[in-house]
Amino acid sequence: MKLLITGGAGFIGSSFIRHVLSLGKGYEAVNFDKLTYAGNLANLDAVAGDPNYSFVRGDICDPASVEAAMHGCDAVVHFAAESHVDRSIYEPSAAIETNVTGTFVLLQVARKLGIQRFVHISTDEVYGDMAPGAFATEDSPIQPSSPYSASKAASDLLVRSYVRTYGTPAVITRSSNNYGPYQFPEKFLPLLIMNVLDNKPLPIYGDGKQQRDWLHVEDNCRGILAALERGRDGEIYNIGGSDIEENLTMARRLLHLMGKPETLLSYVQDRPGHDRRYALRCEKMERELGWKPLISLEDGLRQTIDWYKSHSAWLAGVRGGDYLSYYKKYYEDRDSSLHAIAQPGHGGAN
Ligand code: NAD
Ligand code: TYD
Repeated sequence: MKLLITGGAGFIGSSFIRHVLSLGKGYEAVNFDKLTYAGNLANLDAVAGDPNYSFVRGDICDPASVEAAMHGCDAVVHFAAESHVDRSIYEPSAAIETNVTGTFVLLQVARKLGIQRFVHISTDEVYGDMAPGAFATEDSPIQPSSPYSASKAASDLLVRSYVRTYGTPAVITRSSNNYGPYQFPEKFLPLLIMNVLDNKPLPIYGDGKQQRDWLHVEDNCRGILAALERGRDGEIYNIGGSDIEENLTMARRLLHLMGKPETLLSYVQDRPGHDRRYALRCEKMERELGWKPLISLEDGLRQTIDWYKSHSAWLAGVRGGDYLSYYKKYYEDRDSSLHAIAQPGHGGAN
């Protein structure tokens, strides 16, 4: 089966490519990626010489290059996105363009070419803020809070409409917060690990009592493959981890595992519109697709920390000038940057 994998140079997409090619099940992977700041071909060094792997640089918003790349493929696994909530708050337009328009372009081309299976990778964030003790099932209402989650919810609804209207054979996976090797250090866990390695303060938004459902990226990739192979057309599948933790607890666990003091914790101004809790029910994945998470948070955290410690060349590669200016603007100058966003008339237009 020949797969068009969008966003395959990112964190989860590259893990998925390494996973499917390692199985030796006859999959061929075409990685279609724009190589934004988050795309990194070094994530695919392990498969670069594999005859079943190829790379095409392109933008999912460009119908002609999408059609050229999708031609001859049997299925699409669609990871490409602007994936960071904070960036979507500071500069929403890229998230709307890639996540909504890009998904629309892919659906149009998939329909034209008669693609046999379209797996749309979505997120638990479309369910919005869960009440204390509550869990989202696939039937829960969609109530996104950030421009990122709203753009993902919009793309989910487009996929749903293509299933209903055109019979597009699509499934949607909604996973919780992924962690593991090769994650760009703008997200919570890799940013904290990197700061611990540098003996820098760990920025905790607000009171740090927000809860996230942590899922190892390899567990997610097994779930996505199960959805690709056995998911039912038109269905949504939640993919969550086995542990829901407060951010502060996660930060303390990291400090403990890395042998550093809690004095490194630093409370900073909260994210605007910050969701307090995400939590998924994933019985459907277990019942229909025989999937459940296999990697405990304890083991996964240890493995992830070891990976970052032993991949200093990879880290040096992703921490270039762009990253440093991002970090300065939104961490070192955080109060004034967030203050500017909150001003009436603030552009936020790009
Ligand atoms: P990432 O930011 O690490 O990677 C995104 C990839 O998409 C990059 O390689 C980037 O170059 C590429 N890309 C961006 N815009 C593109 C465009 N216009 N055309 C082609 N390629 C483009 O993201 P990730 O963390 O690997 O997330 C992958 C998917 O999983 C996303 O759809 C995201 O919404 C979803 N998701 C992520 C998480 C998480 O915890 N990271 C959780 C749930 C769902
Ligand atoms: P993040 O990794 O951005 O994922 P998401 O917002 O999609 O869940 O953030 C995870 C949690 O960690 C979220 O509650 C925000 C919080 N957070 C911090 O407290 N400090 C940080 O520097 C970052 C990046 C996130």
